[in-house]
Amino acid sequence: MCGIVAVTGYKRAMPLLINGLKKLEYRGYDSAGIAVINSETKKIICNKAEGKLKNLINNVSNIDIKGTVGIGHTRWATHGKPEVKNAHPHIDNSGKVAVVQNGIIENYQELKIKLEKEGIIFNSDTDTEVIPHLIQKELHALSQLELESNGSTLLVAVRNVISDLEGSYALAILWTGAPDSLVVARRQAPLIIGIGEGEFICASDTPAIANLTKIILPLEDEEIALLNPLGIEIYNSNNERQFRNPISLQTSEQVIDKMSFRHYMLKEIYDQPETAKNWLDKFLIKDSDTGQLNINYNFDTKFFESIERIEIVACGTSKHAAMVGSFLLEQFAGIPTNVFYASEFRYSPPPLLPNTLTIGVTQSGETADTIAAINMEIQRRSSMSDEKYKPNLIAITNRVESSIGRKTSNIIDICAGIEIGVAATKTFFAQLLSFYGLAIKFAQVKGSQSEKNINQLISELTNLPLLVEQLLEKHNHSAEKLAHDFFNVKDVIFLGRGINYPIALEGALKLKEISYIHAAGYPAGEMKHGPIALLDKKVPVISIAIPGEVFDKVISNAQEAKARDAFLIGVAPECNGTEIFDHLMPIPSINEWISPLLAIVPLQLLSYHIAAHRGLDVDQPRNLAKSVTVE
Ligand code: G6P
Repeated sequence: MCGIVAVTGYKRAMPLLINGLKKLEYRGYDSAGIAVINSETKKIICNKAEGKLKNLINNVSNIDIKGTVGIGHTRWATHGKPEVKNAHPHIDNSGKVAVVQNGIIENYQELKIKLEKEGIIFNSDTDTEVIPHLIQKELHALSQLELESNGSTLLVAVRNVISDLEGSYALAILWTGAPDSLVVARRQAPLIIGIGEGEFICASDTPAIANLTKIILPLEDEEIALLNPLGIEIYNSNNERQFRNPISLQTSEQVIDKMSFRHYMLKEIYDQPETAKNWLDKFLIKDSDTGQLNINYNFDTKFFESIERIEIVACGTSKHAAMVGSFLLEQFAGIPTNVFYASEFRYSPPPLLPNTLTIGVTQSGETADTIAAINMEIQRRSSMSDEKYKPNLIAITNRVESSIGRKTSNIIDICAGIEIGVAATKTFFAQLLSFYGLAIKFAQVKGSQSEKNINQLISELTNLPLLVEQLLEKHNHSAEKLAHDFFNVKDVIFLGRGINYPIALEGALKLKEISYIHAAGYPAGEMKHGPIALLDKKVPVISIAIPGEVFDKVISNAQEAKARDAFLIGVAPECNGTEIFDHLMPIPSINEWISPLLAIVPLQLLSYHIAAHRGLDVDQPRNLAKSVTVE
């Protein structure tokens, strides 16, 4: 998390920095700050504000900083509360070095104690602040060697300092001794250099660059770069100069309009019929001879044939999509599949098994734990001599140009378009669709389902745009009404079974994230092993009951809740058995296999309306960020 932006060139830095930060606010909004080297005085001018970027913009609206070199930051607090003193940029005691950072410096305590013993005064509680102090110390040592004061000196100083840092970082550094230069460096956290007309701009993510240039140079892991208006020098960790051609940015700058919606989240929930349509248009192709519809993933049949088992790593909502995916891959396609929290997998991976496909699911493509888990799997599998253990990867992401996108050419682009709301909705929906495509592909290649079943599933998928549109029409108003009755509850239990158990988890997560109401999702059969103790008439229970394998069981579990006075809300078709619900959020009678794609919609709407009714900041819920680039 945290977004950084840095610029050097011939244009005024401040508007470029503010513009870049606006595009990065999704990475954190606890505070924001900028530092620019004043081109007349050659001093660093720094301005910071607690809270959202608009507070910083207010601060600087009447200030005209004449300077073309600057850095900016939007923060998601890790070390130190969201207060001005902890906002970046951080500056050393001489006021000559300013630093912004995204990441975590794990050994900062040890470094801080040492620096304090040497008389350095710390002004924040952050891990980052050790960096400007260490760089100034290095610069001082280098000055004893009577080196010229220029960007190369800063580069040497930064290189020496980062060799002592543990953890992950993306850094941008200013020094008044080289007032037209910037040094940037990265380990694990992302950083991209944009080559503009008259400036170089670096940022954590491409949207911050896209309005200035489409020509970019992503910095690779462990690289460091020196930038000034005349050029860029990039070095790897062995201090070898790196030369490579810039690449062109595929995504154009998209201005996303909220249209008539009150929040982006509601708009994005309403985007889902189009998400389904785009996905179907891109990934379903008709065989010109047979007329048969097929999934058009760009991997050859041999790839699918060789796979005997699947492991999926993901976090948050993406993990819930992965759980539905795992159900489909096992139960529909017959491939043993395990889903892992990426943060757990990276420290306790399962023993290596042969012919395994590893799938990373991340809408942002940058989640630190997911990237680390994938890296670890590539590493441990690449070291095996037996071909059967070699890595096979697929990335499911909404950002093909992201870190995960650069790990493999086997990418399933979920094509959901930009999602602004921090709580994922349409990206979740599109991730689900990607797993349907994979399960169908595997079922075809492995022959685990009859052609009839496969065709039926494909045909059900083609109805989705219309079905979801109808659902939205049917539910938006009633979800709003229901929200009026429940906006003040303290706990909500979500129940689901089988393929809809992950939907219960996702329903609970959505409610928690944006309304701050405690919610827990459970496999319906587990309710009696604990959560039932919470139930009384103040605790609504939302149960997903879809006719099929486990319908009767789910209805019985709902009865058990009703017997404890819980208010029962059902997400189910209008059919026998569902009369037990005190309130029904009806969904069409559909094949159980595709029910998650519909059951999630009323739950998204309900969470949205509860949060909106509580007057909360639905699109930027407290403490969360859309791209989580720290462990
Ligand atoms: C954060 C976001 C969630 C998201 C999760 C995983 O927690 O707030 O909405 O599901 O990260 O993100 P990813 O980009 O890996 O899907």
